[in-house]
Amino acid sequence: MKIFDKTDPIAYQAADTRYEDMLFLRCGKSGILLPAISIGLWHNFGHIDPIENGRNILKKAFDLGITHFDLANNYGPPFGSAEENFSRILQRDFLPYRDELFISSKAGYDMWPGPYGNFGSRKYLVASLDQSLKRMGLDYVDLFYHHRPDPETPLEETMGALDFIVRSGRALYVGISNYPADLAQEAVDILNDLGTPCLIHQARYSMFDRWVEESLLDTLEKNGVGLIAFSPLEQGMLTNRYIDGIPAQSRAGKKMTYLQREQVEENLPRIRALHKIAEERGQKLSQMAIAWLLKDPRVTSILIGASSPEQLEENVRTLKRTDFSADELKAIEEALAQ
Ligand SMILES: NC(=O)c1ccc[n+]([C@@H]2O[C@H](COP(=O)([O-])OP(=O)(O)OC[C@H]3O[C@@H](n4cnc5c(N)ncnc54)[C@H](OP(=O)(O)O)[C@@H]3O)[C@@H](O)[C@H]2O)c1
Repeated sequence: MKIFDKTDPIAYQAADTRYEDMLFLRCGKSGILLPAISIGLWHNFGHIDPIENGRNILKKAFDLGITHFDLANNYGPPFGSAEENFSRILQRDFLPYRDELFISSKAGYDMWPGPYGNFGSRKYLVASLDQSLKRMGLDYVDLFYHHRPDPETPLEETMGALDFIVRSGRALYVGISNYPADLAQEAVDILNDLGTPCLIHQARYSMFDRWVEESLLDTLEKNGVGLIAFSPLEQGMLTNRYIDGIPAQSRAGKKMTYLQREQVEENLPRIRALHKIAEERGQKLSQMAIAWLLKDPRVTSILIGASSPEQLEENVRTLKRTDFSADELKAIEEALAQ
């Protein structure tokens, strides 16, 4: 288990300017405003990672107005370690700011052995959130998600568990993730009947993966539910990271990774073409990729990852230029069609 550098006892003081430049967008038809850019702790916050770097990323994020930190029971590795490290950072730096933060966690993927540590039963979801709260040292999370659909458990049971989680004070809001549009509609209907509306859907959405455009975005808008787009940079492919090869310390260069070298190599022609358009706009590719998602008013927030405070800062600078000309949009479509 990593511990903080004891030679650095200085308490964190958030920047006074933290709300000056961030854009806040309403989440569906709810009372919640989310930052246009949110930060996720899937990578870079496990026990395999240096905690000081994670701490610096979160401090930078909050200083830039990112109020939404996204976690899940299984983020690490090992499972649970991102929540444990987040707790250390929270206790040390963020406790005075707890009410300025919107913290989420999730359950739905494999978490512990046996029949009760996976998918979507009430037994799993409630126990998992109790474990997450303990690991994070929190009384409640702001948002709790069912992480993926469960083909076996009745949707009524899973949504009933989310309703119970709110009524029992464990979470303020609930959401769903990775649900296809028709199942999302069913889940939203059940939650509405129970009196615990679905706040948000967390879906993969990027220039390279546009499945939400088919019908999910319309479904969510019709129901007043927000959308937060995860892996908007395709885990780094939609940045300058791989333009000149695959660095050893990059996500695709590391051994334990969800991004394969072959994926990067396969996409390089499209990446290079998009990079050129971004340069002509006077932007980084990462910035253009984020701005391109934000042009749709149905999108509430872009949920990025970052392995350094510098990456995060570069990505937040996106907000200085989010408009596109018709010619730019056409050129992007052509580059993507390669
Ligand atoms: N609901 C779900 O099923 C689900 C699934 C996946 C993710 N998520 C959520 O979404 C969050 C973000 O996902 P993601 O980490 O895949 O997002 P991403 O923003 O697509 O990728 C982040 C990675 O891209 C690279 N990067 C970012 N900015 C860069 C820049 N300016 N220049 C160069 N490289 C840059 C870094 O990788 P390097 O390590 O190479 O530096 C960074 O870790 C997760 O933390 C999690 O909260 C949810």
